[in-house]
Amino acid sequence: MCGIVGYIGERPAQGMLLTGLKRLEYRGYDSSGIAVIIPGKNTPSVRKASGKISALEKLLKARGLKGSVGIAHTRWATHGAPTRANAHPHTDCENEIALVHNGIIENYEVLRAQLLKEGHLFRSQTDTEVIVHLIEKFYKNIPLEDAVRKALKLVTGSFAIAVIAKQEPDKLVGARSGSPLIVGVGKGENFLASDAPAILEHTKEIIFLEENEVAVLSKGSCAIMDLNGKAVIRDAVRLNWDIEQAQKQGYKHFMLKEINEQPRIIEALLDLRIQKDSRVFFKEQGIALEKLKNIKSIFIVACGTAYHAGLVGKYALESLCKIPTYIDVSSEFRYRDLLIDENTLVLAISQSGETADTLAGIREAKKLGASVISICNVLGSTLTRESDGVIYTHAGPEIGVASTKAYTAQLTAIYLFAFYLAEVRDIVPQNKINKLIEELRDIPAKQEEILKNQDTIARVSHRHSHFGSFLYLGRNVNYPSALEGALKLKEISYIPAEGYAAGEMKHGPIALIDEYRAVVCIAPESKVYEKMVSNIQEIRSRCGKIIAIATEGDANIKELTGEVIYIPKCNELFSPLLVVLPLQLLAYHIAVKRGCDVDQPRNLAKSVTVE
Ligand code: AGP
Repeated sequence: MCGIVGYIGERPAQGMLLTGLKRLEYRGYDSSGIAVIIPGKNTPSVRKASGKISALEKLLKARGLKGSVGIAHTRWATHGAPTRANAHPHTDCENEIALVHNGIIENYEVLRAQLLKEGHLFRSQTDTEVIVHLIEKFYKNIPLEDAVRKALKLVTGSFAIAVIAKQEPDKLVGARSGSPLIVGVGKGENFLASDAPAILEHTKEIIFLEENEVAVLSKGSCAIMDLNGKAVIRDAVRLNWDIEQAQKQGYKHFMLKEINEQPRIIEALLDLRIQKDSRVFFKEQGIALEKLKNIKSIFIVACGTAYHAGLVGKYALESLCKIPTYIDVSSEFRYRDLLIDENTLVLAISQSGETADTLAGIREAKKLGASVISICNVLGSTLTRESDGVIYTHAGPEIGVASTKAYTAQLTAIYLFAFYLAEVRDIVPQNKINKLIEELRDIPAKQEEILKNQDTIARVSHRHSHFGSFLYLGRNVNYPSALEGALKLKEISYIPAEGYAAGEMKHGPIALIDEYRAVVCIAPESKVYEKMVSNIQEIRSRCGKIIAIATEGDANIKELTGEVIYIPKCNELFSPLLVVLPLQLLAYHIAVKRGCDVDQPRNLAKSVTVE
């Protein structure tokens, strides 16, 4: 996810564009840039810097840009490392057109090859750069917006763009498909932005562009059309948000926003990875197929929530790929006498890609000859640069310290990798893979159903927010869910919470059960359902207070426990993708009820870059 801002009016553009970028920094912050039309010269002058927006600000202090038409961008890299050369804006061969982009151009390689053949000069490794060269190709004696429309008709993927050009210095063009873009309508000035926070201090009159729409702005006018050039009437709405509310898009906390983003992120990941013929597509995983065919074991290494994702991955990889799969937390893995070698594939899972113990773990593994694939959310992070292959989760910046959308994106990536590996090793017939893919594709809609039920989950949470300790019980693929649910609660509400394999109850934890302890029992329809029911009966008979997570229609559990949060029926293997939503919301609402700082809980950091 990246942030885009554009301005056209009478006022100096630079300051407003910079402030707008800072308001969008939560969307990405690995590099940034700005282009402003310099009056008289009319060419777009560009300044770019890698690193946070403060680096660009420093550059502009020394070499500022004067002009009142401009565009700016803060990047969350998807293609091409977060370097200055890959930072946006990107320009055409003659540096007369400047463009910023948020999204992923899926067919950029084909387009780039064609444009190179036609003599275009590329300066970056990004997918974005193909758009500005396509516009250049068509921008011959036609208006800028027509050249933009022609170019966008050739790209597949997602885009929100802002474009300025020397030939028409009094024009700012925007367009979107698959990525958000809004128009801010001012008095004698107009704005473009990825999101309202960037421009709310200047205007609250907002036009939300819809799919495949183009906006043509001058300082005093705003015209909207579709990609075929047909005029569109789109009224402005008045947004009565303050800035902070807008960055959270109206949610009270980033964590709640990120919980609600999960269906869309999983859907986008599935669209990106699954080709038309239902084959899973991991071109950048980086390990030679022959190598993958011959690995003898897999070792998963990760911390915290990423470790819980790895535990689910163990079930998926062993059941689908028939490969012995081991797992350990990174801080233990790195100090063990590791029995791994060139026949071992190490899967390192990390949202940030900067976790010190995980980095140390893969360095040990590589010394022993293992191949390393990282499943990571931050392009260009240390882990990705030290791995042999990378699978990006494309969940966008996760601001809440408690990991939510990154976790379900990691699970999705692992399921897809298991399908890919099973296919490469010819373990599972294609028709079974296709069936699994179909069932995985149903998950985002099922998650939406759970999210429609948030008020009920909030009420259940409030009824249990006074308990001084929680026990989370699960079995098989939902044993990791029990661990994840307990971690979510403890890290944002500070309530002691323990996740346990339910079959372990009689080996100790059952001594804890009494009416002062809440017990979350994860009991969806599964091959271990009856066992979970027995656990529930044992807890009931000792007056434990139970919250059950169960499959819709299960009246039996309702009778047994009284408090049930239902999830839709799904393939058991994928149930962790559904079960975790009530667990995340339970933790969130209990923490809010207790007045905790949900997005920045005490003592924690988003990324543990020290041991
Ligand atoms: C999860 O909610 C925590 N914030 C924490 O356990 C986190 O998952 C862990 O520190 C690993 O971080 P990483 O995924 O960036 O490596």
